[in-house]
Amino acid sequence: MNAANSETVLITGASSGIGLELARCFAADGCRLVLLARNTEALETLAKELRQAHKIDALVLTADLSLPETPARIFKELQGRGIRVDVLVNNAGFGANGAFAGLPLQWQLEMIQVNITALTNLTGLFLPGMVERRRGGVLNVGSLAGFLPGPGMAVYFASKAYVLSFSEALAEELAGTGLTVTALCPGPTATNFGNVSHGQKMRRLNTRKMPAATVASYGHRAFRKGKPLAIPGWPYHVLIFLIRILPRWCVRKMAGLFNRAKE
Ligand SMILES: NC(=O)c1ccc[n+]([C@@H]2O[C@H](COP(=O)([O-])OP(=O)(O)OC[C@H]3O[C@@H](n4cnc5c(N)ncnc54)[C@H](OP(=O)(O)O)[C@@H]3O)[C@@H](O)[C@H]2O)c1
Repeated sequence: MNAANSETVLITGASSGIGLELARCFAADGCRLVLLARNTEALETLAKELRQAHKIDALVLTADLSLPETPARIFKELQGRGIRVDVLVNNAGFGANGAFAGLPLQWQLEMIQVNITALTNLTGLFLPGMVERRRGGVLNVGSLAGFLPGPGMAVYFASKAYVLSFSEALAEELAGTGLTVTALCPGPTATNFGNVSHGQKMRRLNTRKMPAATVASYGHRAFRKGKPLAIPGWPYHVLIFLIRILPRWCVRKMAGLFNRAKE
């Protein structure tokens, strides 16, 4: 039995991609899971798989994080069921491709709601309990996009810059409390992300993508080790180093060219 096995882990966006694979990682630890997303059927299928494979409890919560009232509703529902969350995995997120002025403003605002506001709201609701109990932590799924501005995906890149900055600051605030915060910042990953954006097709990334299971297990390991930052893949460490040393105009141009080259 693993020391983590008495933990309850809430994972947002567990119905596909990185979130689904993170659920598999925490299930293998023996944790109780709360799986959250809009696609109930996908969540139920995963919950069934994990209950059978790991003999764990897995609760499915259907919820839309683009609705401002959702985090408080989830918090209340879990409190009502007597479920204490030890680890919060803020993974749900989406992007939208195209110049800011040409995209519906509604998408951009919903993106901020899911990628930033819901993540902050859930953290604000669940973290105080963890601090009080002096155990647990938060695993936030950011992105390599958080390290630079993203012409052609401006709000998405900016939302991930928020996730990165927020997570690193929290990690520092909580140092020595027994709690840890990790920002998992993957590069292009093979998931539904590139195909789905509020039902709109996104342009296809031609970049080589890392399997979602590899990204998730890297992030899970980093979280277990209490690392504030998890960047899967050494080429991305080189890229981040270049982003830091290159003049900002050059970084902006390169990011814009990369995003446009996705057609
Ligand atoms: N794929 C990449 O290249 C890549 C790279 C870096 C970072 N990321 C980040 O990784 C995270 C997971 O994305 P992914 O790549 O695994 O894509 P994905 O397969 O599309 O998964 C996204 C997850 O978020 C959930 N979600 C989206 N909108 C939601 C909403 N309004 N309410 C509740 N849940 C919602 C989806 O569930 P439902 O549709 O069932 O609601 C799904 O489970 C995101 O934060 C993304 O920004 C992805």
